[in-house]
Amino acid sequence: MEKLQNDLFLRACKKEATERTPIWIMRQAGRFLPEYRKVREKADFLTMCKTPELAAEVTLLPVDLIGVDAAIIFSDILVIPEAMGMKLEMHEGRGPVFPEPIRTETDIEKLNVINAADNLGYVMDAIRLTKSELNNRVPLIGFSGSPWTLMTYMIEGGSSKNYSKVKSLIFNRPDLAHILLEKLSDAVVGYLNEKVKSGVNALQIFDTWGGILSPVDFLEFSLKYVKKIINKIENKNIPIIFFPKSVHSNFNAIADSGADVISLDWTVDIGEVRKIIGGKVALQGNLDPTTLYAGKDIIKTRAGKVMDSYGNGSGHIFNLGHGILPDINPDNAKALIDFVKEQSFKYHKDN
Ligand code: CP3
Repeated sequence: MEKLQNDLFLRACKKEATERTPIWIMRQAGRFLPEYRKVREKADFLTMCKTPELAAEVTLLPVDLIGVDAAIIFSDILVIPEAMGMKLEMHEGRGPVFPEPIRTETDIEKLNVINAADNLGYVMDAIRLTKSELNNRVPLIGFSGSPWTLMTYMIEGGSSKNYSKVKSLIFNRPDLAHILLEKLSDAVVGYLNEKVKSGVNALQIFDTWGGILSPVDFLEFSLKYVKKIINKIENKNIPIIFFPKSVHSNFNAIADSGADVISLDWTVDIGEVRKIIGGKVALQGNLDPTTLYAGKDIIKTRAGKVMDSYGNGSGHIFNLGHGILPDINPDNAKALIDFVKEQSFKYHKDN
């Protein structure tokens, strides 16, 4: 059995007592680090994802350089649709593009049923290598997109302004939307279970586009499938984090989804959400990522406000409300992490 040197993050996910609040940062292994950009000069993004040595190398960077309490495996949510047979391109400055998006029922039928161990074996290799290089210093997080967020990209073909195509599908052909969501759920379940077998210590499900749905549609087209997935994660000891970005309703339904942690963006007050859900699950977040453009004093004041709002006791994992932006000064990220490490003891005195 592995014994982690720092398991604060895993204990906080389970709302167990911790001596301080753990912190990690979404997109911590990314372009804001000059050391990442250096590796990225040698290889394009998808090649990095598919080369276990490079993926492991950049996964470890934020552990070594800024001292986060958890690592997250370097990869992308869109490797699942790619493995299902969709051509995926990463465009500089524009983000991911599917040049041949899903348009018809036949397109949905044509999608491959994947076997994660084979079709996404490179992710599993990257996890095994990263675990060995981490040498039990901190836990490793594995992740997936939610079926709704994956479907949004697969139908829009990339980033979108109004999400007209995917929204039009759910209103005109909900039957087809459900067939695709079901297919994606099966793929995500197989993928996440395989990641656990390969060694990850926790899972995060990103629902980046959950917030474009009305409250009732969110329940039908997103949360329903996330619940199904959580239910089918075989190892019940693995904490599961759900991140329904820009969602401002249904907090009790989300807390009852089976997830151990809800990750919040910065447009809600973490203390208010804690009251609404009555402490049923742990909460992750939720400093506005653009706070890191400010000076260190402001960063500390604002980080303190997030911790004050959550209040005393366990079950808070500090994070940004979304990914760290590529032009943030790494010193500011480090200042945030040091501040949380030094100042969060006072919220855990009654342990
Ligand atoms: O958090 C981490 O450090 C782990 C790595 C990670 C990446 N993508 C690396 C990445 C994670 C967890 C993701 C998840 C992901 N990918 C999401 C969900 C989280 C979120 O941010 O909402 C989404 C929606 C994607 C799809 C995606 N991939 C987008 C929109 C982009 C472009 C983003 C941008 O800022 O340009 C990517 C590319 C991507 N994924 C990069 C990284 C480090 C930048 C690639 C580069 O080096 O050019």
